[in-house]
Amino acid sequence: MFYRNLNLTYLRIKHLVQPKIICRQLSVRSIKYQNYSNTHCKKIHVTGDYLFHNTNTTSTGRFLSWKWLLAISFLYAGYDSQNIFDIINQGSAEELTKFLKDNPKAVNKIHLFGWAPIHVAASNNKYEHLAVLLKSGADPDLSDGFSNCIYVARKRNINPSDVLSTRETHFMHNFNANATFQGFTAFHYAALLNNIESLKILMDHGADPHLKSVTGHKPIDLVTDLTIYELLADYEKNFELIKNKKEAEIRKKFPLELRLKQKIIGQENAINVVSSAIRRKENGWTDDEHPLVFLFLGSSGIGKTELAKQIASYLHKNNKDGFIRLDMSEYQEKHEVAKMIGSPPGYIGYDDGGYLTKQLAKNPNAVVLFDEVEKAHTDILTILLQLFDEGRITDGKGKTIECKNAIFVMTSNLASNEIADHALELRNEQRQNKLIEDRRLTDKKIEKHEEVVTFISKKFKDQIVKPILKKHFRRDEFLGRINEVVYFLPFSEMELKTIVQRELQYWQELALKKHNIKIEWDSAVEHVIIGAYDVNYGARSIKHEVERSVVAQLAKAHENGLIKNNTVVKIEADTTKGDHGNIFLKI
Ligand SMILES: Nc1ncnc2c1ncn2[C@@H]1O[C@H](COP(=O)(O)OP(=O)(O)OP(=O)(O)O)[C@@H](O)[C@H]1O
Ligand SMILES: [Mg+2]
Repeated sequence: MFYRNLNLTYLRIKHLVQPKIICRQLSVRSIKYQNYSNTHCKKIHVTGDYLFHNTNTTSTGRFLSWKWLLAISFLYAGYDSQNIFDIINQGSAEELTKFLKDNPKAVNKIHLFGWAPIHVAASNNKYEHLAVLLKSGADPDLSDGFSNCIYVARKRNINPSDVLSTRETHFMHNFNANATFQGFTAFHYAALLNNIESLKILMDHGADPHLKSVTGHKPIDLVTDLTIYELLADYEKNFELIKNKKEAEIRKKFPLELRLKQKIIGQENAINVVSSAIRRKENGWTDDEHPLVFLFLGSSGIGKTELAKQIASYLHKNNKDGFIRLDMSEYQEKHEVAKMIGSPPGYIGYDDGGYLTKQLAKNPNAVVLFDEVEKAHTDILTILLQLFDEGRITDGKGKTIECKNAIFVMTSNLASNEIADHALELRNEQRQNKLIEDRRLTDKKIEKHEEVVTFISKKFKDQIVKPILKKHFRRDEFLGRINEVVYFLPFSEMELKTIVQRELQYWQELALKKHNIKIEWDSAVEHVIIGAYDVNYGARSIKHEVERSVVAQLAKAHENGLIKNNTVVKIEADTTKGDHGNIFLKI
């Protein structure tokens, strides 16, 4: 069986590598040598297992043309000073570790022509580099977007020979430039090269063996070594089991709450409520018949949509079908039901189908966000109630989609003023209590600095929020189907400070990367920006203020030539006129 596969594999991979000089399967060390030593290269150019081909371009001529090739790759990789692809090819694993420490985002950087660092490492049998990349957070399942030189050159409006040179520089193996490697993962490259070290490292990092290239090949289809074939077959068989076990371990070590807290500032209570409901569902501690339904309440710009997005990215990683968003202000009229689930036969738009049903059909386990649900027409609410109650939805064509494992999140600004006022009152109360407590601790010489989480009281929920919701939705059964009503509170001083700092850091990184300008600021600047916080716009008001008072000034000074590249700009604030002081640049 395997030998029949082997023959097929040989035919399949024959077109992937260049049919010039045939050499014996290369050991990792000989490949490293191949790049530098022409004599050694000749030694390995003996006919043998017919597994690999090598062009005679590994000659001194090609070696000499390195400088040109490097220049081209610098140009196209989008790095100004150092290029991660060249470090993988020519540098040591230690050098790569150091580079990634300074440039952590480069680890999953996609080259302009489609490939990622992990592909370069795997295709060059650089398993130590591969290990460094994976440890630094490289996604083992990234697929190579490179199709072929001609197509890429046309798409990028570049000379095909430049594309070819770059590809050949980065992919030292003489893969056939005319074959397509599109959709190859690092696992495919390691399998094609029968490199057991790389394969083991990839398996340890949970690489998916089921992913197919655009030509429909899984990594195992490219293997030509019996032992490796058996290893991969075993891995394929147990992959789901291994994956679930690993994920459970990771979740234990790094629970959902912690992940969400890295992205969402404050909203601790909301994060805890949502995380524990999701965990209960994952661990089988909820009824399987109903999907999870949340209602997120709170004023504008405080993280309701952001939290829904983060849940989707936690559950569905990079799968864009894992997050479905419907703006319910577009579903205010009765006839707009059709836009959601499709029209019945004989009606206009029958063939188009509905947005929600089409998206749910693609991923029935998606996180579905119904933004501003209070604006939806009552007929739409009836459909939502059925969806939440039965965990299924039927489209205009009569096709039913089962979605009991989907997560539905509705957001609403209903009662947001009441919630904000109540939260502010609670915070003031807490601040007073904390001051008394701090004074008591200081007297006892005990240090304790932590933010107090504000909880909305049950009495407030029952007596203020519930009546507002009931009055609006008018149906007890609709409210009864919501698993958790989640409260989002206005930001505290500390949280605002963190938001301002993150926003300024974002622009700091951008200025450094794009213009090589270093930005520095002090706490007075943060204080002035916090002063512009508007509870009605939430974090958006901070983002606008940073853009208005800092970024606009920087951009203007840069355009007018007042700030040169490679300079340090100090942002300062004049607070002599109170909190709403002026922000200015010191160049
Ligand atoms: N708690 C938060 N932590 C980090 N970023 C936040 C937070 N809240 C809001 N933001 C940022 O502010 C912007 C708006 O947030 P988001 O879309 O979540 O608002 P929202 O609560 O859904 O408001 P709306 O009711 O207006 O839709 C986003 O860019 C988001 O990243
Ligand atoms: Mg929103």
